[in-house]
Amino acid sequence: MARDSNPVHHAPDLHAQEGDRLTTAQGVGVDDTDHSLTAGPRGPVLLEDHHLREKITHFDHERIPERVVHARGAGAHGVFRAYGNAASVTKAAFLATPDEETEVFVRFSTVLGSRGSADTVRDVRGFATKFHTREGTFDLVGNNFPVFFIQDAVKFPDIIHAGKPEPDREIPQAQSAHDTFWDFIGSHTESTHMAMWAMSDRGIPRSYRTMEGFGVHTFRMEATDGTTSLVKFHWKPHLGVHSQVWEEAQITQGADPDFHRRDLYDAIAAGAYPQWELGLQIMPDTTDETFEGIDLLDPTKIVPEEICPVQTVGLLTLTEAPENFFAETEQVAFHVDHVVPGIQVTNDPLMQGRLFSYLDTQLSRLGGPNFAQLPVNRPRTPVNDMFRDGMHQQAVHSGIVAYKPNQIDDDLPRTSPEGEDAFVTVPTPVSGEKGRHHPVSFTDHFSQARLFWLSLTPVEQAHEVEAFTFELGKCLRQEVKEGVLASLACVDTDLAARVAAGLGLPVPDGEVPDGVVASPALSQIPAEPGRVD
Ligand code: HEM
Repeated sequence: MARDSNPVHHAPDLHAQEGDRLTTAQGVGVDDTDHSLTAGPRGPVLLEDHHLREKITHFDHERIPERVVHARGAGAHGVFRAYGNAASVTKAAFLATPDEETEVFVRFSTVLGSRGSADTVRDVRGFATKFHTREGTFDLVGNNFPVFFIQDAVKFPDIIHAGKPEPDREIPQAQSAHDTFWDFIGSHTESTHMAMWAMSDRGIPRSYRTMEGFGVHTFRMEATDGTTSLVKFHWKPHLGVHSQVWEEAQITQGADPDFHRRDLYDAIAAGAYPQWELGLQIMPDTTDETFEGIDLLDPTKIVPEEICPVQTVGLLTLTEAPENFFAETEQVAFHVDHVVPGIQVTNDPLMQGRLFSYLDTQLSRLGGPNFAQLPVNRPRTPVNDMFRDGMHQQAVHSGIVAYKPNQIDDDLPRTSPEGEDAFVTVPTPVSGEKGRHHPVSFTDHFSQARLFWLSLTPVEQAHEVEAFTFELGKCLRQEVKEGVLASLACVDTDLAARVAAGLGLPVPDGEVPDGVVASPALSQIPAEPGRVD
C-alpha cells in the first residue's frame, strides 16, 4: 500500500487529553462517570460496564517501579548557552559554537531514599543533565561530589545493598543499616575519600541551586582537528555552595520533607532562575592517562583545581518546572553512554560498568526498548535507527527492508564512515593480559582524603567530626566503629583522635592496611593543563 493511502499514517498526533467531551480510551463518549452500571438501583455491578473496568484497570497500572537508586528527585527544563571557547578542545557543537543554545532537562536526586523520602537527608545528590543537542542527545550523569565510593562497577550492588534500608525491617536509617554501610566503608579503604565528602557539609546541601556538580569520571574530548584531551566536567552554581547544618536538616526533614523540591519550583516560579556555569578541567591525553601522578581512570581521585584550573565554557539556566512530574521527572532516562561527536568515554572501570547498567535498568523501569520515544527523552534531531517493533512502539515503520547492504531498497539511511556528521570512536590502543586486575595506581586510598580534610576550615572540620561521631555512634558493632576509625587514622591523627574521643574508643595507630599505599606525595609542581581559548 502506498504510504499516503494508508489511514494509519493519518492518525492524529498523540495528545494526552484533547477535546471537550469525556471519552473512553477508545474515543467513545461517556454518558456518566459517577455511577457504575448495575442491575437495578441496588443490584450487583455488571461486568459489562466497560468504562468502569477500563478506568479502574488503568488506575491499577499507574505506577512504574521507582529507580533502584536515585528514586527521589526533582527536575526542571532549561537552556544551556555555549561561550564557544571550548572549540579548541571539542568539536561538540553545543559546546564549540558561540552562543549556541541547547534545550536541557535536569534531574536532581538523592541516592538511597525511596521516592517518598525527605529531601534534606545526608546523602550524595545526583545532578543529571540531558542536553538535546542538534547532534543528538548528550547526558552528563553526575553527582554533587567529584569522587565516588568505589573504583569498579562490580562493587556497585554491594555498596548500595550496604546503604539501602535493612532487608528485614525496611527501616532506612536504623542502627543495623548504619552497621552495614559503615562496615562497607571500613572494609573498603578506597571509599574513605568519598566518605569524607559525605560527612562534610556537602552531604546536606541547602538547595539544589547551591550545589556544585561533577561528571566524576574523566572523559576524552576530540577537537575538529583530531587532537584529543582528557577532561573532567564541573558545574559551578551562580549562588555559590551552601549547606544546611545538621540541626536545620533535622527540622526541614520533619517540617517540610519537600524542602529542596519546593525551593527549586518556587525559585523558577519567582523568576529567580537557577544558574550554573559548566567548567572543564583539561588535561593532556597521554598514553598512561595520568596527570601529575594522579590516575585519571580512578574515580576516587580529583585533580586539584590548583594544578588544573576549571575553565568555564557555558551557562545553564533552569527556566521551567515540569508540567507533569510523571511524564517528565519520572520517565526521563539518562545514560552515561549518551555522548555526541567530540565527547568520548574512557577506560575508567566504574564508568565502563555504568555503560551497561543504565540501559539495562531502564528496559525494565520504563517497560521495553522504546522509552527514547517518550517526549522528555525524544532526541530533538531526526531519528532513523532502523530499529523495529518492541513494547510501546509509537512509530509506524514503512518499507520492508531494515538492513544494509541490500538489493531491494536504496533509500535507507546512510552511514558516515568518514565521520562527517557521525560519532566515530577515537582509536586508542588496547592491549594486556585478560584478568581481574587491581592496578597499583589505584592503591592510594588516603592522600586525597587527607587533602580534603586539610582544605576544611576549623568550623567545617568540627562538623565533619560531629558527623562521623554521630553516624558511627549509631553502629551497634564495636568492630565496625574500629574499622572506620582505623581508616580515619590513616587520613589524619587529629581527625581520628577527635572521633575516637566522641565514641569513647581508643585512637588507632594509623597503620595502613596491606595492599594500600600510605600517602604518596601529591606533586605540587604545576603541570601543563590544556587551555580553552
Ligand atoms: C541513577 C549518578 C555510579 C547505576 C543515577 C542517577 C545519577 C547517577 C545522577 C539518577 C539519574 C536520574 O535522575 O534519573 C551516578 C554517578 C556514579 C554512578 C555520578 C559514579 C560516578 C553508578 C554505577 C552504577 C549505577 C557504578 C552501576 C554499575 C545506576 C542506576 C540508576 C542510576 C541503575 C537508575 C537509573 C534509572 O532507573 O533511570 N546514577 N551513578 N550508577 N545509577 Fe548511577
